[in-house]
Amino acid sequence: PGLLRASSPALERRLRGLALVRDRFVSEAEAAELLRELEPLLARRPYQFEHWDGAITGYRETERELGGEVGQALLTRIAGAFPTGRPPQPLIHVLDLHQHGHIRPHIDSVKFCGCTIAGVSLLSPSVMRLQSCHSPRLWLELLLPPGSLYILRGAARYDFTHEILPDEVSFFRGQRVPRGRRVALICRNAPQG
Ligand code: OGA
Ligand code: MN
Repeated sequence: PGLLRASSPALERRLRGLALVRDRFVSEAEAAELLRELEPLLARRPYQFEHWDGAITGYRETERELGGEVGQALLTRIAGAFPTGRPPQPLIHVLDLHQHGHIRPHIDSVKFCGCTIAGVSLLSPSVMRLQSCHSPRLWLELLLPPGSLYILRGAARYDFTHEILPDEVSFFRGQRVPRGRRVALICRNAPQG
C-alpha cells in the first residue's frame, strides 16, 4: 500500500487488486542471477533513441524464455498472478531502459496482450503512472523498487494508460526517485479468442 498513491481514495478503492506492487518479490541473489543470464543478450544491442514517436525511447529489448532454475521458479511464482486458464506466455519481454530513457503513456495492444500484465523491475527504482483514458484527472502512481513485481489487470490494464516516468520528473509522494538503468521482465497472457 505504501507503494501506491492515487488521485483520490475512491480511485484507490476502484483499482485495488487491479494495479498492485509487491515489494521484494525477487531477492538480490535471484536478481543477480537473472541479470547474469540476460546481460550478454542485451549487451549486443544498441539502445534505441531515434523512435521519438514511439511509446518507448532509450531502450533495448529482447524476448526470451527464462532458462535457468531461478528464472523457471520466478515464472512459476508470477504465473500465480494470472487467472486460471489464462497463463503468462512462455516468452518473457525483457526491456532494458537507459537512465535517460522512458516509456510514454500507452495501453498495451489488445492484439498482442490479454487481460494481465506482470512485471519484475531490476536495478533502478522507477515510478509507473496510470492515467484514466476517460477522466484524465484520475491517476495512480506505483513506486517500483528493484526486486518488486507489479501487476496490471482488468480496468487498470484496459482503461488506464501506463508510463514509466523520465528521470527529470521521477517523483513519488513528492520525493525524488532518481532513475538509473532499469531492466524489466514483463509477462503477458495471450489475447482471448
Ligand atoms: C511495455 C511497458 C513497462 C515496464 O513494454 O509495454 O509498459 O515495466 N513496460 O517496463
Ligand atoms: Mn505497456
